[in-house]
Amino acid sequence: MPQGLVTVAYIGATILFILALGGLSHPETARRGNLYGMTGMGIALLATLFGVVTDNYVMLLAALAIGATIGLVLAKRVQMTQMPELVAILHSLVGMAAVFVGFASFSDPNVHFIGVEKTIHDIEIYLGVLIGAVTFAGSVIAFGKLSGKIGGNPMLLPGRHWLNLGLLLMTIWICGVFVEQSAAGDGLFPLLIMTLIALAYGVHMVMAIGGADMPVVVSMLNSYSGWAASATGFMLGNDLLIVTGALVGSSGAILSFIMCRAMNRKFIAVIAGGFGTTSGSGSGGGAEVDQGDVMPIDAAETAELLKNAKEVMIIPGYGMAVAHAQHIVHEITRKLRDSGVNVRFGIHPVAGRMPGHMNVLLAEAKLPYDIVFEMDEINDDFPKVDVTVVIGANDVVNPSALTDPDSPIAGMPVLECWKSGTTIVLKRSMATGYAGVQNPLFFLENTRMLFGDARESLDRVLADL
Ligand code: TAP
Repeated sequence: MPQGLVTVAYIGATILFILALGGLSHPETARRGNLYGMTGMGIALLATLFGVVTDNYVMLLAALAIGATIGLVLAKRVQMTQMPELVAILHSLVGMAAVFVGFASFSDPNVHFIGVEKTIHDIEIYLGVLIGAVTFAGSVIAFGKLSGKIGGNPMLLPGRHWLNLGLLLMTIWICGVFVEQSAAGDGLFPLLIMTLIALAYGVHMVMAIGGADMPVVVSMLNSYSGWAASATGFMLGNDLLIVTGALVGSSGAILSFIMCRAMNRKFIAVIAGGFGTTSGSGSGGGAEVDQGDVMPIDAAETAELLKNAKEVMIIPGYGMAVAHAQHIVHEITRKLRDSGVNVRFGIHPVAGRMPGHMNVLLAEAKLPYDIVFEMDEINDDFPKVDVTVVIGANDVVNPSALTDPDSPIAGMPVLECWKSGTTIVLKRSMATGYAGVQNPLFFLENTRMLFGDARESLDRVLADL
């Protein structure tokens, strides 16, 4: 394939990636956005296969076949609730690829740069391996935390900020040593040492993150994986990889910023690995603090309350995903709306386990988008709401985020459903949510608990309606 055609294909793919990002910014256009992204990636792959690669086809095709098979099997098998873990582990692969490409590029006998060009290439390699190793290690720990294989509590080492600063200064110093030694035909040792430091930093950074900051870390690792891909593009001299990586890196950074604002967290504080975080075991942290009795309710009474309400607000959370209850939620919504009840949905920005988790589920169940509202849009409306139904949400409706400064979720804005007439909470037990804090909402006078799996409970409510 002529070089000019490859360039045109790369520009086309870049435009499609930008259109994909635009499409993904709204549920209505997200499907189209995905199609643009897939087409762009297809074009990029073909142009690289036929226009850039010149030999080693057998090895390349074998790798593609293995990768595509693993990807297909994983995508088919993964449950919606495991999606965040899958995304985390995929980020780790991007980081690992950047590390491998860095070492391969460093040891490539066919690369002969001299003078300034050599220095620039060495710095590209150093940065690529650095970002890749942090992304890899951080994403593996995030995978562990999201899948419950590693506990969610932050691991706060004494003097951790000094440790982070020390590691940063060391990587800067080692960079100088590496460039100097590489110019003399050596440099593998400092590169290896820096890789170990970067891996340690990645582990330490994410281990120090507690429940409330985890969403920011998920989107930040997404951003890091983009920068790792971009660095790989620099090492390989591949413009498309540079641009695509930068698109992922910057959109991930914007998302992290939005998440930080939603969580009332400082961006730098999160990047520095739980900066400003205390052990978080204040009064809100104890699930065992006696807060009184809760008042249970059954499905028939719930149906009765809903039938007699004028304004109903539904707050979905992670438990709705676990119970696969989104379709039955749609059925109930339709039934209530048909009988004149105004049903709306309030979505917290970090509900579930990945950005947009609830929106994706509700869109999958084909719920009309115009009754789904962001937290900021509807939080003032609760005093006018007759019945709020909390479906498998916990941390995002926890009033102690506003009242208990010692809580691990202190300062996080929450959906203030306790201001509505009655709040009905659907969950299976009195267990805590992701952040591990008990929820005073459950013990309030105007709260009723509908215990059981959300889908089974809602099935009975629908039957009673
Ligand atoms: P959580 O606070 O995790 O609460 C989920 C609740 O659902 C649990 O209390 C659980 O109680 C209940 N549940 C689980 N399975 C259920 C089922 N089958 N039927 C009924 N209820 C069920 O969820 P949330 O309110 O959505 O808050 C999200 C949390 O995750 C926040 O702390 C957030 O910081 C964190 N987080 C979010 C993200 C992103 S990006 N969104 C990423 C990482 C972490 P039972 O066990 O008693 O049923």
